[in-house]
Amino acid sequence: MQHTVVEHMDRVTEDVVALTLRATAGDLAPWDPGAHIDLSLPNWLDRQYSLCGDPAERDAYRVAVRYDPLSRGGSEYVHRFLRPGRTLPVSLPRNHFPLVPAPGYLFLAGGIGITPLLPMLRAAVTAGIPSTLVYAGPSRHSMPFADELHRTYGDVVRIVETGRHGRPDLHALAATLPPGTLVYCCGPATMLAAAEAAFPAERLHAERFQPAVRSFGPDTAFEAVCARSGGAVAVPADESLLDALAHAGRPLPAGCREGICGSCEVTVLDGTPEHRDDIGAPEGRMFACVSRAVSPRLVLDL
Ligand code: FES
Repeated sequence: MQHTVVEHMDRVTEDVVALTLRATAGDLAPWDPGAHIDLSLPNWLDRQYSLCGDPAERDAYRVAVRYDPLSRGGSEYVHRFLRPGRTLPVSLPRNHFPLVPAPGYLFLAGGIGITPLLPMLRAAVTAGIPSTLVYAGPSRHSMPFADELHRTYGDVVRIVETGRHGRPDLHALAATLPPGTLVYCCGPATMLAAAEAAFPAERLHAERFQPAVRSFGPDTAFEAVCARSGGAVAVPADESLLDALAHAGRPLPAGCREGICGSCEVTVLDGTPEHRDDIGAPEGRMFACVSRAVSPRLVLDL
């Protein structure tokens, strides 16, 4: 954990507030565009937010939080109770959405999905790499940072007010995509589905802030062997690996519990996991909050 204090809370739209989190001492851990952190909120909830500031600013992080009317307590706490001056522990940055070197980029943002793309666009433009941002939202005044982006980047940014002009035509964008250009997309599930339909998988990098709706086979029981600490944990069909480990006194960090943040990552030494996350588990890893096992036994580096 790193220790920060809420220095500023700037309202950027009616329902989005941008937080500047200043280190209480020294520098904060470095990060690259696409990274996120967990905020450990005073109401005992951990919530993940993309870093949207400048990686060169080493003693502060910036995140933006949209108020969710269906909030499970995170955005509601930030909007209703959090105030400047409050100390806030934050995790080290994690990055499951890195900017891969390419000769050009097309960034697609929907609503609050703009946040991880802000530092990406800055990095790409600063490096002189041809880039376009297509930023969609119901109306300009509801879209965080829209005016700032337009002022800073001019024609590089295309604002699409879907309430007036409809959704951007991603198939048309795909038809004119220059060779080698990569597509980075962050937004609601409908936008991600449209991007998956329009762009080849090898050119599309997407980040979800809600898990995709997918179906899996029935949950079955399996055994998790903890190779380092010794002992085995039975994982019943109606319990997650994360919960079974916690009940056995081997808790893992957990933020989203939905397979989108990466905080519960664990190394698999033997056995075959069934990956159910939306991150894309690296080889030999799994996310214990949602993923299960195909084999009757998993050996974990715990
Ligand atoms: S707790 Fe977020 S991926 Fe498991």
